[in-house]
Amino acid sequence: MANSIDDLKRQAAEKAVEFVKSGMVVGLGTGSTAVHAVNAVGQMLQDGRLHDIVAIPTSESTARNAQKWGIPLTTFDDHPVIDVTIDGADEVTPDLDVMKGLGGALLREKIVAIVSKQLIIVADDSKHVTRLATKAPIPIEVIPFARQPVITFLELLGGRPVWRQKDGQPYITDEKNIIIDCFFDGGLADPAAMAQVLINRPGIVEHGLFLGLTAMAIFAGRDGVEIVTR
Ligand code: A5P
Repeated sequence: MANSIDDLKRQAAEKAVEFVKSGMVVGLGTGSTAVHAVNAVGQMLQDGRLHDIVAIPTSESTARNAQKWGIPLTTFDDHPVIDVTIDGADEVTPDLDVMKGLGGALLREKIVAIVSKQLIIVADDSKHVTRLATKAPIPIEVIPFARQPVITFLELLGGRPVWRQKDGQPYITDEKNIIIDCFFDGGLADPAAMAQVLINRPGIVEHGLFLGLTAMAIFAGRDGVEIVTR
């Protein structure tokens, strides 16, 4: 079907890939939108429109897809700085603050984002929000030992924490941690303050608030593709 949600995701991702140039170090995002960017980079390498790319994937699943396409992977030891990263998002504000992590890869995604000269977020236009955590919970990666103390802490903050499960089992991240999704009714009035409170709590490894990291967001909607820069 033309312009299905998946078409929109692909359109946004393919527009972002235009910012990838031969010779670059590329961060490869995770999720149902970012996968289209990985596929497009792979296709362009195969047909010669791109060459001399190396990439750092944000998850094991993205690494597997990149390898399938023959995209050469590298490490931070060899390439400590990434030229451009293309990744998806669960929510994006007009200031390009972002919530990520419903796909479970937020920890590696943030590590990659922070060393990227340019983070391009790609999304269908349903991801627009005026306030973070209105549509999505905050995904919070937690070491398994800290699960109950962190849940109690999040309840005291006024949140509604939910221990993420998959196929009836606790969801386990690539770094062997668990995820607590925390809902806040009405969203976050002060995301920066919340980010600080969360990251300071022992047992919390990372959270899905990506504040001040995004250089560009590309949204695809029924009326076309929109590029927003900071
Ligand atoms: C992966 O952990 C996430 O941060 C995704 O980037 C985010 O959830 C967006 O995913 P979709 O593109 O599948 O909506």
